[in-house]
Amino acid sequence: MESFVFLLLSFFTTCAGFDVSVPKGRVVAIRGQPVILGCEFTPNPDLSPLVLTWQRVEDSRVVHSFYYQKDQLEYQSPDYRNRTSLFVSELRNGNATLRIEPVGLGDVGGYLCTVSYNEGTGKAQVRLDYGAFYTEPRLSISMNCSSITLLYEAEGYPEPEVGWFGEHDEVLSNHIDLIDKAKGTTGLYYLKSYFVSPSPSLNVTFRLKNHLLNQVLHRPVSITYGGENCRTLNAVTTALIVFCVLSVLLILIILFLLAKRQKDSRDLSYTLTNGSTNGRLSPSRPTVGL
Ligand SMILES: *[C@@H]1O[C@H](CO)[C@@H](O)[C@H](O)[C@H]1NC(C)=O
Ligand SMILES: *[C@@H]1O[C@H](CO)[C@@H](O)[C@H](O)[C@H]1NC(C)=O
Ligand SMILES: *[C@@H]1O[C@H](CO)[C@@H](O)[C@H](O)[C@H]1NC(C)=O
Ligand SMILES: *[C@@H]1O[C@H](CO)[C@@H](O)[C@H](O)[C@H]1NC(C)=O
Repeated sequence: MESFVFLLLSFFTTCAGFDVSVPKGRVVAIRGQPVILGCEFTPNPDLSPLVLTWQRVEDSRVVHSFYYQKDQLEYQSPDYRNRTSLFVSELRNGNATLRIEPVGLGDVGGYLCTVSYNEGTGKAQVRLDYGAFYTEPRLSISMNCSSITLLYEAEGYPEPEVGWFGEHDEVLSNHIDLIDKAKGTTGLYYLKSYFVSPSPSLNVTFRLKNHLLNQVLHRPVSITYGGENCRTLNAVTTALIVFCVLSVLLILIILFLLAKRQKDSRDLSYTLTNGSTNGRLSPSRPTVGL
């Protein structure tokens, strides 16, 4: 019975010659560019009975509507205010294409195009995705005596595939930190990817793929670092240590000799005191010097 009603309905719609359609596949909105959501219906040069509504599938928010031969912006969801437009002159040709600019992460989802004429109502849905091309990755290099750290930073959307590859295309690291600093309001992830190499020279390639937008970035990095600074540093350290040890030794020797001299002069005065009994200093007493 149900399928009979359905058949009857489709027969009726086909008979009335009223049809609404959207292009196949999903639409990808790109940050910084307007997005076009196509929707076509059987053309009718008389616009007065036309009621056209674009809505979000998930919650029926009104994205844009047109009836009484004009845009009805007061019923539009505030989320879409000042961002949408129809090509009004195209409506006569059965073209209900909607333009949205600027686009953001919040625009991701389903869009329903509903067109009503006296002949009937037709609906069609289109899915919108969102992406942002990753910016040119910024490279920072930091080295110490034991390793070299490479860091790339970039912004884009959605999560990319990243990797660090060696000379034979072997995977060295897939480290990735994705931070959504502004909780989706900017529609961008902040990406950080590290690679730490224990060797003082390296030849690696950083690769980033944003599959949604078919974006691929290859950034080769080649560093030859002899570690001269480390060697100089080591030499300086060794010299300092030797100098310190020698200084300490010298001070010890001086202290020892000073102590010895003091002791000797005490002995001398003792001799002198004793000597006073026989009236003269013993000539065999050696003189004390450093
Ligand atoms: C939309 O544009 C009007 C006029 O340009 C402006 O007064 C209004 O604040 C804007 N609304 C939003 C939500 O940006
Ligand atoms: C509908 O109108 C838009 C804007 O002029 C145009 O880009 C698009 O190609 C039209 N669609 C068709 C199917 O003609
Ligand atoms: C050198 O840098 C690496 C990576 O930042 C760190 O893990 C390591 O502790 C550092 N070594 C020295 C001697 O500072
Ligand atoms: C790095 O590797 C690439 C190929 O893997 C090679 O063409 C290039 O000459 C290498 N560069 C250095 C400095 O070794």
